[in-house]
Amino acid sequence: MSETKRLAGEKAIEYVKDGMIVGVGTGSTVAFFIDALARIKDRIKGAVSSSEQSTQHLQRHGIEVLELNHTGMLELYVDGADECDPGKCLIKGGGAALTREKIISEASHRFVCIIDKTKQVPVLGRFPLPVEVIPMARSLVAREILAMTGGQPVWRDNTVTDNGNVILDIHNLSITDPMTMEREINQIPGVVSVGLFARRPADIVIIGGTPPTVL
Ligand code: 5RP
Repeated sequence: MSETKRLAGEKAIEYVKDGMIVGVGTGSTVAFFIDALARIKDRIKGAVSSSEQSTQHLQRHGIEVLELNHTGMLELYVDGADECDPGKCLIKGGGAALTREKIISEASHRFVCIIDKTKQVPVLGRFPLPVEVIPMARSLVAREILAMTGGQPVWRDNTVTDNGNVILDIHNLSITDPMTMEREINQIPGVVSVGLFARRPADIVIIGGTPPTVL
């Protein structure tokens, strides 16, 4: 599996053009992308990072990490996913970085998603849907999500996000209308963001393999 993740991460390098500032996601697949990016680091201006974990990885390779507030819109964002449906809608947030990932994907003209084939699903929801929540709203949000979706919220153990918040993972969902669910969960007071990427799906999906598949 890590071999297919590596192949996906390396394929994504083809989308990096000279002089770019590259948006960089979080996770084990992205780690392979960062390692590949390091090999061409002299051709890029730097990166915008979606997590402390990716920032440290980028900096270990000597890649400059820039502030999104200073860069403006990015040409390219590369990130992994926990699930991907046929419309390129995603579940993300298995690594708890969903909010910053959402911000950078929104600020990017092209979102290249790198996955292995186990992440492809006909309908999103087998992977528990992560929701980042302000700590004092945890129980309120859990009750409202249960009533709204029928899914079972589980407070993720030992996890504080880079923004100081907690994660609820919503189990037993079958998300046939991801756009509506994304909007409705986002509207619950106390929700920072939900790990559904339907309003802003991936533009390109690379599935690691020999050769990689590009959708
Ligand atoms: C982090 C994410 C990751 O992209 C997602 O969890 C996939 O991770 P991996 O590449 O390790 O399978 O959304 O918040």
